Amino acid sequence: MSEYFKHYSFDKWIYKSSSSSTNVDLVETVSKNDYKTNIVLYTYMQTAGKGQIGRKWYSGAYKNLTFSLQFDLNSILAHNQFNLNMICSLALTEVLAQIFPLMADKLTIKWPNDIYYSNKKLAGILIQNTIQGNKIQKMIFGLGLNVNELDFPKDLPNPISLAQITGTSHNLQSLFRNLLSTLTLILKQLDQMTKSELLSLYHSKMYLKDTLSKFEITETGESLQANLRGVTDHGQLLLENEQGIRKFNFREIRYC
Ligand code: BTN
Repeated sequence: MSEYFKHYSFDKWIYKSSSSSTNVDLVETVSKNDYKTNIVLYTYMQTAGKGQIGRKWYSGAYKNLTFSLQFDLNSILAHNQFNLNMICSLALTEVLAQIFPLMADKLTIKWPNDIYYSNKKLAGILIQNTIQGNKIQKMIFGLGLNVNELDFPKDLPNPISLAQITGTSHNLQSLFRNLLSTLTLILKQLDQMTKSELLSLYHSKMYLKDTLSKFEITETGESLQANLRGVTDHGQLLLENEQGIRKFNFREIRYC
């Protein structure tokens, strides 16, 4: 039985020769046209990409994939939104592992939903949910995947592209088609899983799981050395040290 998604393939494809942000463009397009189907909006030239918590997403023109997906969803309670987050990040990790099997072992999810290759960031996900009352009405799933970028701006902490990993450049259009058709299949599989199956899969892919790491508590600037133990049912990060286990929401903690 499908849980969250009404269906998994895409009914409408919108190409933009350029877009400031595909997430913003998709939100505008959907609200003007009242589309209720699964929609893809993509560009190879995104000029002011948005990242999480107000950050920017850099993408050199015609070098990478930048796109946003809207899914027609079943009625989902807002307090379950981390399940969607897990499905999206697990789906992307699995899609990349299927297309690039040699990379599979080194692909992980850095909480909550960055896609890492070894200790570098390969892709970022920006999920924007529209919530009415206690229900999620719409989800926009924006994805930036570094593909042929070889020369990232120096101020980005630790980016990596597929070309840097594989040593060869990739055709953006055929990769994009392959990625979305594989995503359709994988989403269907993940959507059949129970919450505990999703959580255990997410834990198995989690970057730095059970590793002693350094964090900073955002509000106080206090540094914290702790073992990353996983996430709670609602997606809070669980960190353990000699003082015990603490839970953190996304904005409350930073990796150092
Ligand atoms: C992050 O790592 O902070 C999330 C980055 C998400 C970037 C993608 S690129 C396509 C879509 N449009 C945007 O403006 N952002 C997302």
